[in-house]
Amino acid sequence: MAEKPWGGRFREETLKIVEVFTASIGFDKRMYRQDIRGSMAHAKMLAAVGVLTAQEAQTLVEGLAEVEKEIERGEIDFPVSVEDIHMAVEKRLTEKVGPVGGKLHTGRSRNDQVALDLRLYLADEMKEVLDLLRGLCETFAVRAFREADTLLPGYTHLQRAQPVTFGHHWLAYFEMFSRDIERMKDTLGRTRRSPLGSGALAGTPYPLDREMVARELGFDAIMRNSLDGVSDRDFALEFLFNASVIMTHLSRLSEELVIWSSQEFRFVTLSDGFCTGSSIMPQKKNPDVPELLRGKTGRVNGNLLALLTTMKALSLAYNKDMQEDKEPVFDSLDTIKGSLAIAIEMVRSLKINPERAKMALKEGFVNATDLADYLAKKGMPFRHAHEIAGKAVALAEEKKVGLEELPLAELRGLSQMIGEDIFEALSMTKSLSSRKATGGPAPENVIAESELAMKRLDELWPRSK
Ligand code: ARG
Repeated sequence: MAEKPWGGRFREETLKIVEVFTASIGFDKRMYRQDIRGSMAHAKMLAAVGVLTAQEAQTLVEGLAEVEKEIERGEIDFPVSVEDIHMAVEKRLTEKVGPVGGKLHTGRSRNDQVALDLRLYLADEMKEVLDLLRGLCETFAVRAFREADTLLPGYTHLQRAQPVTFGHHWLAYFEMFSRDIERMKDTLGRTRRSPLGSGALAGTPYPLDREMVARELGFDAIMRNSLDGVSDRDFALEFLFNASVIMTHLSRLSEELVIWSSQEFRFVTLSDGFCTGSSIMPQKKNPDVPELLRGKTGRVNGNLLALLTTMKALSLAYNKDMQEDKEPVFDSLDTIKGSLAIAIEMVRSLKINPERAKMALKEGFVNATDLADYLAKKGMPFRHAHEIAGKAVALAEEKKVGLEELPLAELRGLSQMIGEDIFEALSMTKSLSSRKATGGPAPENVIAESELAMKRLDELWPRSK
């Protein structure tokens, strides 16, 4: 019983199945670096305010550094009996430095310690996620620049609607993922607040310098209420929500690539390295990567709902329920990091088939709106112009030609306002370049926007050194 740090008031040993059931060491050991970093800052501060001697603090800090090296070298095993990473580190430290190891936990509780560890861990990891988001945004901006005038049918209701370009389409994704960067940065700001000093729930009687610990750990601020300090998991919920939105964006991209790479569309070809074959149908080339990206959205959404549900009726302050915060966070983290890394490569190596996209434009009468706009510009009320254009589509459909292939006489049969200049208005490239207000798909816009995108990215999240 003396084995357990809290063993004092117990007369019987913890049941083995209870130990197994309640231990978090199996998954929280991945926070060992953050746990040690937090403890070092705490020890230094205890010395600075006179709770420990300088010598004691130095012994603790050096001991912790050695424990870290041992863990890194895989020399420490973590049996469930140690319960969690906080106890595992302290236990090993005390074995090394002797009874002074027991002074590390002065003015601290595992409740504020675990809250700090998860914040430190997420803050470190979110920076990596931000680097990956930046990488994906760059990939879109580069492709947008290159494919600024490569025609593509734009869709609504998955029906061909109006001509856009591949470049314009990529910039839509740039916008989506750049908002993901903004959101993650916001969350990072609220994550970098130190709960240390909250104690178990009601602060501590020691003259702790909480700001010093926060500064030492590179945090911007301290949490200003001890009950909230140990029980707030909003930052983890925000992170999980951000992860869900990222996956939602990846899933929409993936869905498009699955459709576009199908035999029916053939707008794009996924490089062979990104596909697998079928064990029975020799002709198959399956878009496994985008399918799996789409599929993984489910588990990430599940993780968000899991923690929301865990937190929803918890009284203040710490409850053991909150130990359930870590696995969803770790799983979403691993999933988005893996997904973003592969998405970057998938988008970068994608081959487009401009001929197929052009063909689809032609068969889709996507210049019908241009015909209506042409008439409206000549003074016809748009509603009427819309009807005339609709009739022209019916006519072209019957004759199995594009609108631009109808003879002038037939077009004039629909409206005398139509003149020789209609053919310029109906040209796809003309239609495209006419939509040049900011946000529109005119190639000159897309070029300018893709250059601006790179600059915006540098302001949002500069490339890490
Ligand atoms: N393993 C625990 C967790 O992950 C650490 C905090 C334990 N605190 C306590 N009072 N039992 O939440």
